[in-house]
Amino acid sequence: MIAWSRLDDGRQFGSVNLSPPRINLAKCSKTQPKGRTWHGGSSPSFQNGRIERIGEMLRPSIFGSTSTTVVTLSKSLYKSSSKRRINTNYPSAMATISTVPIEKEAEPTLKINPPVQVAKRLEKFKTTIFTQMSMLAIKHGAINLGQGFPNFDGPEFVKEAAIRAIREGKNQYARGYGVPDLNSAVAGRFRKDTGLVVDPEKEVTVTSGCTEAIVATMLGLINPDDEVIIFAPFYDSYEAALSMAGAKIKSITLRPPDFSIPINELKAAVSKNTRAILINTPHNPTGKMFNVEELNAIASLCIENDVLVFSDEVYDKLAFEADHISIASLPGMYERTVTMNSLGKTFSLTGWKIGWAIAPPHLTWGLRQAHSFITFATSTPLQWAAAEALRTPDSYYEELKRDYIAKKAILVEGLKAVGFTVYPSSGTYFVVVDHTPFGLENDVAFCEYLIKEVGVVAIPTSVFYLNPEDGKNLVRFTFCKDEQTLKDAVDRMKEKLRRR
Ligand SMILES: Cc1ncc(COP(=O)(O)O)c(C=O)c1O
Repeated sequence: MIAWSRLDDGRQFGSVNLSPPRINLAKCSKTQPKGRTWHGGSSPSFQNGRIERIGEMLRPSIFGSTSTTVVTLSKSLYKSSSKRRINTNYPSAMATISTVPIEKEAEPTLKINPPVQVAKRLEKFKTTIFTQMSMLAIKHGAINLGQGFPNFDGPEFVKEAAIRAIREGKNQYARGYGVPDLNSAVAGRFRKDTGLVVDPEKEVTVTSGCTEAIVATMLGLINPDDEVIIFAPFYDSYEAALSMAGAKIKSITLRPPDFSIPINELKAAVSKNTRAILINTPHNPTGKMFNVEELNAIASLCIENDVLVFSDEVYDKLAFEADHISIASLPGMYERTVTMNSLGKTFSLTGWKIGWAIAPPHLTWGLRQAHSFITFATSTPLQWAAAEALRTPDSYYEELKRDYIAKKAILVEGLKAVGFTVYPSSGTYFVVVDHTPFGLENDVAFCEYLIKEVGVVAIPTSVFYLNPEDGKNLVRFTFCKDEQTLKDAVDRMKEKLRRR
């Protein structure tokens, strides 16, 4: 097997690890002109024990370090590869991309810098900011309050259900749009939360996380050149998914302190070409929750102009200061709304990637068409376990909220004591602050300083805007960490973060 990984810390450009026998690739450097590193043009790969050509996967990071491609050839490939060329035209057939850090190689490795190739529709995108920050956190031993994954585990009863499903042999492809039990559980929870009765067979589609629900919705329902309105700052996958669908993106900026929707701007943005408005409530990264007036205003605009709504509600159960409202539940809206959600945030199981989209049959048709050819189906045993999770009594969600409220208090009070301007966050496990009291020129510079000099990771928000300038004063912290970790991060900031 070939494992591809990208590191963003500039430690090495890439390595080819041949085993057994271990071949020091420095020996293979005969095949390249002395002293040359590959910048563009052909890059090397392995043929007959020599490096000839290797695929490409480099991206510049926002901190200017170079991403890395690590290619590892395993024993089996090595054995069969003496006459075999690695077909770099189809790296995905033989390669997996991993963001897991790779242990330092024991032996010297060949430094290569293969050229970047990417389709036009994706060329503006970089390694996601979350990967970059998590890698930097590891490198600098920083406390990671950047990426939104809990550093504690999901509930035992859900994990046990997954183990049971595996043991019971629920291990082959699932039905494409979801195992029936999960479709029913999703419909059941939706009914409980919104009062809407949906047909689990015709209106619920299980996807690989909400991320896939987003992509399937875009690819299945948006035509090239359709306009889609999003609110900045926005979750970064929206822009990429819309770009893959060939949509024209119109972005409306939500501004601090309350990040409320500028309704007149929104009205002005809707045109005869507007196909959809994408909303996210509770909202990542600000923690804003769309209130009923805002949702009604969006609903009226959509009904008047025959526009769809794509509503990302992955944080619906992390609504602390207001009740979550699904826009689909407003009069006249269900038939024009795709509601997307997932298990990850609510059950602290972000690695499971079980998500779903709920939509009336005429919209489900399009998104299922896309889903059928993106993943077709997602993990069978985890779907069975997800069904069990969704049937959990309300007391689970109440406890989850209590825990998060305590965590949020530690972080928010701590950040205020450190000297940040902390903007109110009503939901999600994020809080956005203004970093400018500390005198760094922008959010990226601030986050770099925070990681290297203070040992804490935050996410620069400028990556969540079409115009990065709009986010240059703001950074996002997450509180989905155990209380001690949050306290330690606050202590580090109190001790080391100085106004400049
Ligand atoms: C707003 C939002 N939508 C979607 C996702 C992705 O969800 P999943 O992990 O289920 O793909 C995230 C994850 O951070 C998110 O913050």
